[in-house]
Amino acid sequence: MSLLEVSALGVSTRAGAALVRDVSFAIDTEQRLGLIGESGSGKSITSLAIMGLLPAGTAATGSVLLGGTQVVGAREPALVRVRGRVASVVFQEPLTALDPLMRLGKQLAEPLARHQRLRGRGLRRAVLDALTEVCLPEPERIARSYPHEISGGERQRVAIALALACRPQLLIADEPTTALDVTVQDEVLGLLDRLVAERSMAMLFVTHNLAVVSRMTDRVLVLRAGEVVEYGTVRGVLGAPKHPYTRSLVASAREFDAALEVS
Ligand SMILES: Nc1ncnc2c1ncn2[C@@H]1O[C@H](COP(=O)(O)OP(=O)(O)O)[C@@H](O)[C@H]1O
Ligand SMILES: [Mg+2]
Repeated sequence: MSLLEVSALGVSTRAGAALVRDVSFAIDTEQRLGLIGESGSGKSITSLAIMGLLPAGTAATGSVLLGGTQVVGAREPALVRVRGRVASVVFQEPLTALDPLMRLGKQLAEPLARHQRLRGRGLRRAVLDALTEVCLPEPERIARSYPHEISGGERQRVAIALALACRPQLLIADEPTTALDVTVQDEVLGLLDRLVAERSMAMLFVTHNLAVVSRMTDRVLVLRAGEVVEYGTVRGVLGAPKHPYTRSLVASAREFDAALEVS
């Protein structure tokens, strides 16, 4: 069985609008899959459905097996057992993952204490180590800070440390660098790439950026209006797109690159 098996996943609103339809794919241990498509194509809804975190007023059908646990229709206690341990998410906006009223060291201590059964000095050491691992140069300062006291890039690094605290086997990264400055984006992508490799994790990487998907993943799934239009290796899909929608994505990315070269 794969680490993640998504079969005929559908997500609809209570009013009956289909947001995602008949999406199927699998991710094995250490595999990386990119999820691409323009804004509103259902990338985030798909990621949230995998974690059992769909927004109120929406519901999933079909099957999502995450580390063997059925997520669709699962109750909260079953989901709590898989979240963080089997899979974790890093969102576009790091503030969604962070409590604005709690010092960052304390936020990180909670999952580390739970996962590694640490307390006191050992726990404090683990918090500083976790911050150092995501390349935060002054871990003591960051640990003492509240989320609003550090930069956006630093916040996303803390959110990554938080996502990795329980040593998940799968990391879902939903446009993790879209909200960051370009130079910081590059550093955070490099960090994710290295951590996922070092820890032998699998990754579902969500982006609307084709250059980023080819840097971070091996295979890619293209969503359009909630449906899969193409799936294959990054080289195959982006090098020789079959579906007209994928062709238009590739063409507009090329135009954008060309515009950058002349400007
Ligand atoms: N909470 C919600 N309730 C109803 N519809 C939603 C909700 N969140 C997102 N949607 C709709 O679902 C579709 C897919 O959204 P989303 O997955 O966020 O797109 P993407 O991440 O690809 O930009 C969009 O049409 C969006 O308007
Ligand atoms: Mg999104």
